Amino acid sequence: MPIFIKTLKINWRRFYSLQKQFYRIYIIHSIWFHSFYIDNIINSMGNIKSLNGKKKSKEDKKDKQNDIENGNIPEPLTEEQKQLLQDAWISLKNDMAKIGVVTFIRLFETHPEVQDAFLPFQQLTKSDLEQSVILRSHALRVMGTVDKCLSRAHKPEKLQELMLELGSRHSTYNAKADFFEMVGQQFLHAIQPHLGDRWTPEMEQAWTQLFKLITTYMRNGMLSAGR
Ligand code: HEM
Repeated sequence: MPIFIKTLKINWRRFYSLQKQFYRIYIIHSIWFHSFYIDNIINSMGNIKSLNGKKKSKEDKKDKQNDIENGNIPEPLTEEQKQLLQDAWISLKNDMAKIGVVTFIRLFETHPEVQDAFLPFQQLTKSDLEQSVILRSHALRVMGTVDKCLSRAHKPEKLQELMLELGSRHSTYNAKADFFEMVGQQFLHAIQPHLGDRWTPEMEQAWTQLFKLITTYMRNGMLSAGR
């Protein structure tokens, strides 16, 4: 009899320990299952969010693309602005290469992503960039563009056509539409010291307006080319 009671006690103990193990397994599995389930819900929410994001960025692009068609064309230059710019350009022309190089070196310092987009300049130090023949050549091309635009200031439709085409070609040069405006900002900083006390609010406004025309058309030209 005492032996039977002893066995019964042992069995009860076994029963409890088995029950405990069963609960443990059940809890572990239910946590795993629920986390899997919740993960799936979160993932699908993420997908919905990223789908919305894609839809939005497509809409953004469409909006930008429609800048010109929507009539969001920058104001043309006034006669006074054309005169101010052409007079200033006569003195700036002597320092074209220097201004162009300073513009791009400062642009790369403030926006390293633009330097990375210029494949030959990736990883170059500031002093390498200062010596770079490629940088100097592109800087001179940008200054040449300013020169062309100023000589076409009286033919705004010609200026527009030229910049749309240049922007469209830049879609094959690894540039991004938002970079053009950044070039304009740095160009303005670079010319300021060269103009001394001729740098007035009217002068600043005239250069801002010219670069607004250049960069808006270039950006739209690039976006129409499919970027
Ligand atoms: C207002 C801004 C800019 C202007 C006016 C401009 C102007 C020019 C011009 C006139 C050319 C000569 C080739 C052609 O006519 O198609 C050129 C070429 C090129 N541009 Fe630009 N550019 C600007 C900004 C940029 C930016 C932000 C990048 C950034 C990646 C870039 C990358 C290039 C490259 C890789 C070439 C070809 C190589 C060369 O000619 O140096 N440009 N650009």
